[in-house]
Amino acid sequence: MSEKRILTAAEQPEAGAALKKSLEMTKADVVFEVRESNMRGRGGAGFPTGVKWNLAGAASGANKMVICNADEGEPGTFKDKLLLEKYASKLLEGMTIGGYAIGSSQGIIYLRAEYPYLVPGIMKVREELISKNFLGEGILGTDFSFDVEIRMGAGAYVCGEETSLIESLEGKRGEPRNKPPFPVNSGYLSRPTIVNNVETFVSVPYIILNGSEWYQDLGIGSCTGTKLFSISGDVENPGVYEFQMGSTIGELLEVAGVKDVQAVQVGGASGTTISAGELDRKLSFEDLPPGGSVIVFNSSRNMMDVLENFLEFFVHESCGQCAPCREGNVRLLDTARAIRGGKITSREELKPFFMLAEVMKLGSKCGLGQTSPNCFVDIITKFIDFPDGKGGM
Ligand SMILES: Cc1cc2nc3c(=O)[nH]c(=O)nc-3n(C[C@H](O)[C@H](O)[C@H](O)COP(=O)(O)O)c2cc1C
Ligand code: SF4
Repeated sequence: MSEKRILTAAEQPEAGAALKKSLEMTKADVVFEVRESNMRGRGGAGFPTGVKWNLAGAASGANKMVICNADEGEPGTFKDKLLLEKYASKLLEGMTIGGYAIGSSQGIIYLRAEYPYLVPGIMKVREELISKNFLGEGILGTDFSFDVEIRMGAGAYVCGEETSLIESLEGKRGEPRNKPPFPVNSGYLSRPTIVNNVETFVSVPYIILNGSEWYQDLGIGSCTGTKLFSISGDVENPGVYEFQMGSTIGELLEVAGVKDVQAVQVGGASGTTISAGELDRKLSFEDLPPGGSVIVFNSSRNMMDVLENFLEFFVHESCGQCAPCREGNVRLLDTARAIRGGKITSREELKPFFMLAEVMKLGSKCGLGQTSPNCFVDIITKFIDFPDGKGGM
């Protein structure tokens, strides 16, 4: 599949053009267009954006909220930083269109703690949009008003999870909530709330301007559009690349200049670790969930170092609310160290830990604990040899 740039293309549509078009449409038509495009959220879970907006629009409750998740905590991901730096105008336009669609006048950008230097640039763009009447009171002569403020995160990975992000915004300890209720019905301060990733909001103006059919033609099957990938590790040209959904991981690596591949971590520490034999896998929710991060490890890398590093991260970042995640990650880290120390020497001895990984996936309260065992299962299964075969059960 060929590379096709939209979000990062040199030629960009005029600021406010999609907003103007949206305000000439009914709210229901804006939601319909986004839903028909089949765009799935770019924050990782891939929930259909139009469905989320439809639910929030239909929810009863005053003072609906639009929240942009700019926490970007997944190791290896830096694509939202690029968008916030260079495409803040499109982000604010996408949030404003979201506000119009669900009936909200208030937006918040929850910004990663390490990105405070981006605040002046985003605020400058906000001022410019206000001066053009694309943001603020009575936008473009209508009775629709919308404004955006920035709130800083404090550096916790789990606060990227939408409900702990909301808790954090409310000034509480950043811990995931029980769901239901879902944020679309009861989110920030119990108001109907949409939480969307930076890239999701940035994509919206293009869908409105070009139409859902145009968007559907990009990508593959139910995974439409293009996607940004932060490529790092053992590559000649690390950076942010835009590709159509459904591109193979091999196509990405070719463009980024990769010669020697032992493993590729797709979707961050909680994503999927693939081997050199899997480079024809397609970046889509049906095959290889795309996330935002692609980290390449060449053959000089010790994959047990990688595994230990990821598991230390999860032990550190688990909020500790639920036992499968709080205890499970510690046990998996102990197991990885036991393998390195020669205390576990066979596949047979690993069986209980693969069962533990399953329990964590099924029993953890939020996505952190549900996905943290992925690296353990993938790396042991695909990269570690035991006398009785590879680690997988
Ligand atoms: C531990 C954890 C961390 C997350 N971090 C982020 C993040 O940094 N940025 C993000 O957009 N979504 C993150 N998510 C996903 C959000 O919970 C949520 O699904 C997303 O913001 C929804 O936006 P989208 O529908 O546009 O993808 C995280 C989820 C989990 C479980
Ligand atoms: S899965 Fe982990 S991070 Fe999520 S609520 Fe449970 S302990 Fe906290």
